[in-house]
Amino acid sequence: MTAEDFRQDFPIFQGNDYVYFDNAATSQRPLQVIDAVSDFYKRSNANPLRGLYDWSVDATDRYEHARKVVASFIGAASETEIVFTRNTTESMNLVAYSYGMANLRAGDEVVITVMEHHSNILPWQSVCNKTGAKLVFMEPDEEGYISREEYESKITERTRIVSVGHVSNVMGVTNPVKEIAALAHKVGAVMVVDGAQAAPHMKVDVRDIDADFYAFSGHKLMGPMGIGVLYGKEKLLDKMDPFLTGGEMIEYVTRDSATWAELPHKFEAGTVNAADAVGLEEAIHYFEKVGFDFIREREIALTSRIMEGMKANGHVKLYGPEDPADHCGIVTFVIDGVHPHDTASILNEDHICIRAGHHCAQPLMQFIGAGSTARASVYFYNTEEEVERFLKSLDGVRKVMGYGY
Ligand SMILES: Cc1ncc(COP(=O)(O)O)c(C=O)c1O
Repeated sequence: MTAEDFRQDFPIFQGNDYVYFDNAATSQRPLQVIDAVSDFYKRSNANPLRGLYDWSVDATDRYEHARKVVASFIGAASETEIVFTRNTTESMNLVAYSYGMANLRAGDEVVITVMEHHSNILPWQSVCNKTGAKLVFMEPDEEGYISREEYESKITERTRIVSVGHVSNVMGVTNPVKEIAALAHKVGAVMVVDGAQAAPHMKVDVRDIDADFYAFSGHKLMGPMGIGVLYGKEKLLDKMDPFLTGGEMIEYVTRDSATWAELPHKFEAGTVNAADAVGLEEAIHYFEKVGFDFIREREIALTSRIMEGMKANGHVKLYGPEDPADHCGIVTFVIDGVHPHDTASILNEDHICIRAGHHCAQPLMQFIGAGSTARASVYFYNTEEEVERFLKSLDGVRKVMGYGY
């Protein structure tokens, strides 16, 4: 199968000439996923986990089956370690509030990197402010790599939690989360991984990484918006209090007390998003059909050509690693003398969709000295022709802005 073959499965690509290079923000969905969600509502719609009649039992079965598929997709020991959330943001908040609030004291440290997405910064800022713990930032080198010296110097006996993005949504680098987890465990800290940008691109094995918590979003790997995942080791989840309380997450309630349902239900308060869980399961099946090798091979080929074309342009500043293979399909850049918002708007005139702004990573923007940047992010279904159209449009940007070239 080629990229062109796979594109046929995506309704959004049919009958128009848009080039979609904002895959790091959200990927597109194949018809199989859209149909799976629709099929849930057509055939099984009832409140899951509650009713004793056939439709509700069917909804429950499909929801719980999706959980099993997710567990096996990331190598979890059991599906009880998979909590469905709305997205990575909610997963990170769950860990920060349910684990962090209960386990941090004044003098403790939470170690993250300056490259994190805001969803892996703000929950920790908030919990550190409330508990008196200190937030410590690891810093990358020019290309975005975190060195061993850096994490060995920042992770100390005071560290209680280390929370690191598996892949940076700006630099594209893959962080050495397995090595960092080993060090975190050596000092008695827990390792949290924000896998939002990794799960759509590489084989994730939470047990091989030895992550204590691992979060990702369905919508970045061709699944529906509104379904996310939090993996947590059972021994940790077991001891944590719920993040949200209400219906469905209890065992027994009296007027002034309650006991909690078994894992993972104690973390899934209220009516669950079964239709989107079913859609996520279908996305995982589709993803596995495409295969990690094909995804990686396509991303490297397209990224290499994008970086080569940008270097030939002569007016483009590139961020992230020199090696296109280390970009995970993400190319962040600024054109000399052109605000990234202008770049994105000019490209949009040619029906090319890229992202511009701070990418929810303002501390990183401050660190690299850029107010904002532009970002093109490719996925396996993008083509060489699209890359050439993108580069041609990019070459015209300075002219539109009134520069001689
Ligand atoms: C690295 C990273 N973490 C977290 C998120 C947040 O994901 P969501 O908006 O799905 O919660 C993103 C989204 O762009 C991301 O790139």
